[in-house]
Amino acid sequence: MKDSSPSAIYLKDYTVPDFLIDKTELTFELEEANVLVTSRLHMRRNALSSDKVASLVLDGGDEMKLIGVAIDNVSLSADEYQITNQSLEIFSAPNEFVLTCETLVEPQNNTRLEGLYRSSSMFCTQCEAEGFRHITYYLDRPDVMSVFTTTIIGDEEKYPVMLSNGNEVERGKTEDGKTVVTWHDPFKKPAYLFALVAGNLAVQDDVFKTKSGRVVTLRIFTEHHNLEKVDYAMGALKRSMKWDEDVYGREYDLDIFMVVAVDDFNMGAMENKGLNIFNSSCLLASPETTTDDAYLRIEAIVAHEYFHNWSGNRVTCRDWFQLSLKEGFTVFRDQTFSSDMHSETVKRVEDVSFLRTAQFAEDAGPMAHPVRPESFIEISNFYTLTVYEKGSEIVRMIYTLLGEQAFRKGSDLYFDRHDGQAVTCDDFVAAMEDASGVDLSQFKRWYSQAGTPELLFESKYSVTDKTLKLVVKQTTPPTPGQESKLPLHIPIKLGLISKDGNELESTYSGETAQEHVLHLKSEEATFEFSGVDSEPVPSILRGFSAPVKYEYAYSTEELLLLMSSDSDGFNRWNAAQQLAVRELKSLIHQIKNGEPLADQSDLVKGFKSLLLNEELDPAMVALILELPSQAYLSELEKEIDPHAIHSALTHLTKVIANALKEEFSATYMNNVESTVYEPNAIQIAKRALKNIALHYWVESDDVTALESLNEQFSNSDNMTDQYAALSIAVEAGVEKADVMLATFYDQWLHESLVVNKWLTLSASQENVDGLKRVEELMSHPAFDIKNPNKVRAVLGGMGRSVQVFHKEDGSGYRYLADQIIYLNKRNPQLASRICTPLTRWKKYKSSLGDLMKLELERIQKEDLSKDVYEVITKSLN
Ligand code: PHE
Ligand code: ZN
Repeated sequence: MKDSSPSAIYLKDYTVPDFLIDKTELTFELEEANVLVTSRLHMRRNALSSDKVASLVLDGGDEMKLIGVAIDNVSLSADEYQITNQSLEIFSAPNEFVLTCETLVEPQNNTRLEGLYRSSSMFCTQCEAEGFRHITYYLDRPDVMSVFTTTIIGDEEKYPVMLSNGNEVERGKTEDGKTVVTWHDPFKKPAYLFALVAGNLAVQDDVFKTKSGRVVTLRIFTEHHNLEKVDYAMGALKRSMKWDEDVYGREYDLDIFMVVAVDDFNMGAMENKGLNIFNSSCLLASPETTTDDAYLRIEAIVAHEYFHNWSGNRVTCRDWFQLSLKEGFTVFRDQTFSSDMHSETVKRVEDVSFLRTAQFAEDAGPMAHPVRPESFIEISNFYTLTVYEKGSEIVRMIYTLLGEQAFRKGSDLYFDRHDGQAVTCDDFVAAMEDASGVDLSQFKRWYSQAGTPELLFESKYSVTDKTLKLVVKQTTPPTPGQESKLPLHIPIKLGLISKDGNELESTYSGETAQEHVLHLKSEEATFEFSGVDSEPVPSILRGFSAPVKYEYAYSTEELLLLMSSDSDGFNRWNAAQQLAVRELKSLIHQIKNGEPLADQSDLVKGFKSLLLNEELDPAMVALILELPSQAYLSELEKEIDPHAIHSALTHLTKVIANALKEEFSATYMNNVESTVYEPNAIQIAKRALKNIALHYWVESDDVTALESLNEQFSNSDNMTDQYAALSIAVEAGVEKADVMLATFYDQWLHESLVVNKWLTLSASQENVDGLKRVEELMSHPAFDIKNPNKVRAVLGGMGRSVQVFHKEDGSGYRYLADQIIYLNKRNPQLASRICTPLTRWKKYKSSLGDLMKLELERIQKEDLSKDVYEVITKSLN
């Protein structure tokens, strides 16, 4: 343990900066062993600051070497300033001045992947949230916005490409023959949006003509061998640019937009102004190496980063507590974009499924926090599903409450009012209120209250009055630091279905329609619908109109009815999920009690009619056929027994597979595609249906199924089908799975991103001796501990294997803890993220939970980075 524990910072302590930086001039002299950074900051005191102290305190990490510091070109002597491990204090600063700083950094020794570092042979940067302070001393906070000019000096042969934000304004040579390039970004921005890239890169060019007729140059940079994999991302970028013009009226503002793929990256991608940097796994695509899922993900992330140009860059965050201002809104924008490009229902199902599995679990765990947190120790720990996904749900609810047109007026007002500013979530809501006249004061509690609200619905129909009364109660469970909660303003979209499957009209608050939006504001409310012709089945929370858990005592028949007849696609899927969850819960119960397992399933009937109905959208059928995941079921359990959940899933899969063997085999055959691969919605849907049918068919132990599996694995022309075949083999535990894995590796050993998929699948194999396999993978030549994708591939894969990770002797937990300890100082962000499975220890049955806790306590004894310290301490609280 450290002598002094890291301390928290609080939203309530926010004050404006004492100094501002109008202009930032940077020079980077690139050498192999180090980089000399010279900054000239044009600074002045902030008139709005109430603090009249003389000193200037700049942020800066202790791994930089300060070579010199000067004010107005006069060097400061050692007694005029002081450096600590995180700052440079200049004791006396004038009102307006130019501060010059020279620092020396060593990118090749930067394993944290924040600040300036090397990935493969290139230099690149990652500055969000607080990475810029590892490059030079600065006021590294988002409300200090500055105009940046960046000069890069380097050896032309090694670094023919040298990039920074904005436009290239000058290019020349130094006396000793080095290339000098200067970039200028005319838009004021915080330092977290700064970027620099240098290396020997290939480029693909394109153009986009904006709605006002300007021609923007688009350039995607990669290592030379990856250049043929950028076409899809380029198309996605153009679609995003067009969509943002059409849907939000937002036009791109610079003359050039650049994207660079790097292999070593902690996150998915980064929206640096005019120079986005991507994890190569989120950018590069080809049919042979990329699955349909990955294609969709690439398109969504390209869009997400592009959309940040307005929601994030032109209008940014005042402080990091407001992170969801840009992230929640931008996720909402990218979700809507993907939904417009493909299928609205499929996209919604996928997003909700993810939210309910992962964000709900976060909100029920020790790291639960409001969408706008009130405090943090390390901001990197708050790039969470709550800030991103629940944040997006908040924006979606505002959209539902305001309607399309008023929402658009609100976003126009927001961008217009705050262009060039660093603002807060309150400013966003205020713009929405001002443009629409809708009162969102109670609604704002969504930003400050953590935890997933729970709704309980009861209904009563009167045949004589033809009225339906719907009683709704809401509660939100306590979360760390928030014992009691206030009622939220919750939009409930609802329809009524007759017993013979038709949409019923009803009158609610003077309006007659088939669908209503109810506003639940109190702890309990009764909503009354009149003119309801027959006793209805309510279709509640259509489109998942609020991020809540809810209960209504549906009978099995009613769920089957909703599954086949609800006009709301999301609720059709959800009804099937609820049926499956019920059956799985009772199987889990039987397993825990040593009772014989039910070998019948009500799902069979529903699935059968889905498989036989050729009119249905194959994408929807595929989604409905997918059973709730191990992770989702864990989230729903009071006390998690991972082995019982796994056995229940395996059992139900077999029951369904055996009952519908013929139907699955026919569905498989009917959906085999012979046309050339394209990642479009129609093809993606057919492949999804075909592959889930193959999975069940293989689980039925039919020999012909195994032949089809082999055939698909060996002869597919695309990664989606090949990888699906391999995953099915691994998951179903077919005899040849190991041989297939080996074949797959040999086939793809030169494709690093495909090798990552192999690492994940290999590590996820269910086998009581699987830890040995995991250890082998971590010392395999294809593995690289410095590459976050590879670390996540193996450890993520291991986490999916119940028998390896949750082995009763605790060896899986111990192994993960060892990796956390190893990575703690080398890459704190990554180390902190891989802690997540252990942090949930309280929810596991005690024989496992206690073992997880022991590992957390062992980690706690180490000299911890702030990142890991925060997560471990909060988990043990
Ligand atoms: N701001 C990035 C995004 O959402 C995420 C990110 C955060 C990347 C921190 C790197 C570091 O789009
Ligand atoms: Zn983002």
